Amino acid sequence: MNKNNILFSFLLFFTFVAFQISGQNIIPAPIKKIHSNGYFIFKNLNYLKNECKGKEFGNTVNSFIETFQNKTGYQIQKKHFGSATIEILLDQTLLNKEAYRIQIDTNQISISISDVKGLFYAFQSIYQLLPAVRNNAEIKIPCMQIQDQPAFTWRGMHLDVSRHYFSMETIKQYLDLMATYKMNKFHWHLVDDQGWRIEIKKFPKLTQIGAWRVNKNEYWWNDRPQASANEEANYGGYYTQNQIREIIAYAASKQIEVIPEIEMPGHVASAIASYSELSCKQNTQLQMTGGNYTAISSNYCAGNEQVFDFIEAVLKEVFELFPSKYVHVGGDEVDKTSWENCNKCQLRMKTENLKDEEELQSYFMKRIGAYIEQNHKKMIGWDEILQGGLAKGAIVMSWRGEIGGIEAAKMKHNVIMTPGSPCYFDHYQGNASYEPKAFNGFNSLKNVYNYRPIPAQLPDSLHHYVLGAQGNVWSEYIQSTNQLEYMILPRMLALSEVLWGNDTTRKWDEFYNRIQSHFERFDLMGLNYAPINTKIKFETFYKDSALYLNMSSDYPDGQIYFTKDNSMPGLQSVLYEKPILIDSSAQFQTLLFKNNRPMSPIASSQEFVIHKAIGGKVTYNLPISKQYKAEGDISLINGIRGPLETKRNWQGVIKENLNITVELPQMTSISKLALGCLNYYKAWVFLPDSVLYSISKDGKQFESIGNVISEFNSGSDSLFTADFELKLAKSKQAKYIKVEAINRKVCPKGHPGEGQGSWIFTDELIVQ
Ligand code: ACM
Ligand code: ZN
Repeated sequence: MNKNNILFSFLLFFTFVAFQISGQNIIPAPIKKIHSNGYFIFKNLNYLKNECKGKEFGNTVNSFIETFQNKTGYQIQKKHFGSATIEILLDQTLLNKEAYRIQIDTNQISISISDVKGLFYAFQSIYQLLPAVRNNAEIKIPCMQIQDQPAFTWRGMHLDVSRHYFSMETIKQYLDLMATYKMNKFHWHLVDDQGWRIEIKKFPKLTQIGAWRVNKNEYWWNDRPQASANEEANYGGYYTQNQIREIIAYAASKQIEVIPEIEMPGHVASAIASYSELSCKQNTQLQMTGGNYTAISSNYCAGNEQVFDFIEAVLKEVFELFPSKYVHVGGDEVDKTSWENCNKCQLRMKTENLKDEEELQSYFMKRIGAYIEQNHKKMIGWDEILQGGLAKGAIVMSWRGEIGGIEAAKMKHNVIMTPGSPCYFDHYQGNASYEPKAFNGFNSLKNVYNYRPIPAQLPDSLHHYVLGAQGNVWSEYIQSTNQLEYMILPRMLALSEVLWGNDTTRKWDEFYNRIQSHFERFDLMGLNYAPINTKIKFETFYKDSALYLNMSSDYPDGQIYFTKDNSMPGLQSVLYEKPILIDSSAQFQTLLFKNNRPMSPIASSQEFVIHKAIGGKVTYNLPISKQYKAEGDISLINGIRGPLETKRNWQGVIKENLNITVELPQMTSISKLALGCLNYYKAWVFLPDSVLYSISKDGKQFESIGNVISEFNSGSDSLFTADFELKLAKSKQAKYIKVEAINRKVCPKGHPGEGQGSWIFTDELIVQ
């Protein structure tokens, strides 16, 4: 056999295998799957015997029979005696209630479970083993044994129905998709500023008024003008209590628990529009239309007893509706200015001996927490409920990174991890310049897949406090069901595998292959889903004091072509094969190809500037944000320029100055210095007011050599980069450079974050 023949046989073999296993791409991947020879072949009529008694088992089996018939066109008949080709056995040795085993032999499929959840999940796996398309070929599954159980008990998906209302049908479809991928907690965000979505019998105005707003959907969220009083409130909707019962029952049939979120004490402009007496100012106000908070009261008054009576009455109806032992009470992003200016709130602080408004929020949440506990329910809140003291037994949802979760677990509280990156599914999952408009940020499928819910810093003994994680779907920029599908597909599949599996079952390349068949299914079902991110990742590293560039993509089967002359890369351009030495400043244009076809309409570009600080060392005299560290300590001297977005290559510091000392690789003659900065008004990122440079030969005595004052306009809507350049009339010798960038400290007047901390973002200190 010559080499080509070997290659050909090899390809043939793989094509054959790929074809054979196309129905075995189960997501989340089972913990253990052992293959054996042969196939189980379904007949036109199949028999099923169920040994598990009880209505729930019966309903789950009936639903399986119906779904199977719809998917295959084949029948299943129940059998009570003798042998059957599909057998369901009770096995009490399976201690995990969600566990299941499936034994597929040539003559029988045998399912062992210890409860109905396990049975439901076994059926989900079988559905995924069936071919996606019903055709005339026989329907068969390769023989195998599956042993499976999840790693985490909280496998959640959140949905914000306040910012945009979603129909009953859409909610059910969302639950269907969750169930397919074995997700089990639906966090229903029913209350927020821009819409109250749950019928409360005692307070009908909450839905008569609070559920409706003037339709400004033709504007993007943050650009929406306030409504005026004479405009008709014509956008919105709510769920009646009967509809909510219907959703809870539907979810329960798919082993999903529904957890309501009744947000407080902030984010309740919708409640205040309905009952103005609940706010500190108590003046009438219009419903909000979008992200513009000017002249809006969005907090309950913490000094008014009527507020607590109101909330308790609302919660009473919520408890009667929702069987879940959990209730989420929000607690995030409370702007405490209204409390600072309110006599009743200030009086409350005095009588309750509370030292600040943080403690007032804690008082609020603890008081509600006690009411929740009296009603035998468990309170969940966003991680701000830690501020000023955590309520007894409260469960913390860690969204501002992992820190809240770590802190709460150390206090022996249960936590659910939902850090913005990678658990926010409202962020972009690909290149923002051609992706559908999204909230902001970047959170790719691979990013989600690489997530580990147990924070690395958490000691082993505290791991059990982490119940799991959840994908959060905020709907400011999700106006349709179609777009909702796009935001969760395929990221929810990655999260499901993160929460179900373990490090031995999780491998990106293999997941990437498996997910392709799910894309085929989405196509067949007419579901809208996002392509896998096609941006090229640029990383630099030093080797023997030289700077190298490594390029990679999320496509294991992709190729990267690049140019350095600003032209669009094509198959005739240079193929990236190994790290490239960067020895002169350059602009790379790169494009991902798969099967010789470009995978994106535009190139990913990256600028490198080669200068004299490369190879040096940065010391941070003041800490930078843990959230925005870019590539770590080499980031400001790695030659990589930052793009017009906040996520990549930018180091950030909020409210404080940036203060660094750079030790150059050697004593150097300096003629020009420049600190690269980002101005991104909407992301609360502003240029520094000024940048001070000083230099030193010994790292001890510094000579101030210049102060560059900002002459740029950082005003409304601006997004640009700027270099704070200092040219020296005569070059100077130095080994150390100190840079201090002065933060404007707070966002300017008229900005949505007026008076709150502003960011400085910097990508590079360029030394020439
Ligand atoms: C949140 O994203 N405000 C919890
Ligand atoms: Zn007040």
